Amino acid sequence: MARELHDHWFKEAKREGYRSRAIYKLREIDQKRSLLSPGDAVLDCGCAPGSWVQYAAQQIGDDGVVVGVDLLDITPLPGHNIHLLTGDLGDIDDAVLLAAANRSATQRFDVVLSDMAPNTTGHRDTDHHRSMSLCELVLQRCGTLLRNNGHLVMKAFEGTNFQELVQRVHECFGEVRTMRPTASRSVSREMFIVGMNRRDDAELSLPPTPSGGPPPVPEDWSLGQ
Ligand SMILES: C[S@@+](CC[C@H](N)C(=O)[O-])C[C@H]1O[C@@H](n2cnc3c(N)ncnc32)[C@H](O)[C@@H]1O
Repeated sequence: MARELHDHWFKEAKREGYRSRAIYKLREIDQKRSLLSPGDAVLDCGCAPGSWVQYAAQQIGDDGVVVGVDLLDITPLPGHNIHLLTGDLGDIDDAVLLAAANRSATQRFDVVLSDMAPNTTGHRDTDHHRSMSLCELVLQRCGTLLRNNGHLVMKAFEGTNFQELVQRVHECFGEVRTMRPTASRSVSREMFIVGMNRRDDAELSLPPTPSGGPPPVPEDWSLGQ
């Protein structure tokens, strides 16, 4: 069954000219939550081979811009609204990312996407903790790169610290959902955390304060329902 599903999404991506089946995860999330709008500046973290960039560029149109970052070289994509950078997200300065989007430190990005994944080992806890570190990095970068009221979509591998991460996102965004798109493989432990309307004064890079109990965490929200 998992293999059939893989083949289905893989074939769809090929037929529609997308570089990866991952497109269908972002498309489903965006269609449900309306995150990407014409004219937006979008930062796509871990963008190779580039299907999220392709989809985002279509949604934001000629007046928007997508900046994609990946450790791997990315084969160029057509479109004056696409800028691709090679490197570790943790090593690229805010100024470089903002300049690629033609934005200033006060304007910042409208949407931050992260489909970043560690090289998986097959050891669930190890992969989970590595994924958590990448999510921490994304949240940290949102602190200076995502505008107030901006949106975040971030992939995480579920495990012991997952709910704690969701709580962190709750502290920083007005509305939060966890989603598992239908295009995710049944064997995968990936979930997508969607943070909408970044709070004005959210200090995204600060650790959570251990005050009187955790904030409410929403029930997992399946797009299939
Ligand atoms: C699942 S793939 C992304 C697929 C992409 N969303 C698409 O639609 O084609 C995950 C990517 O995250 C990248 N990645 C992992 N850690 C990273 C880091 N620290 N900085 C930049 N990219 C990273 C990997 O190189 C890999 O290409």
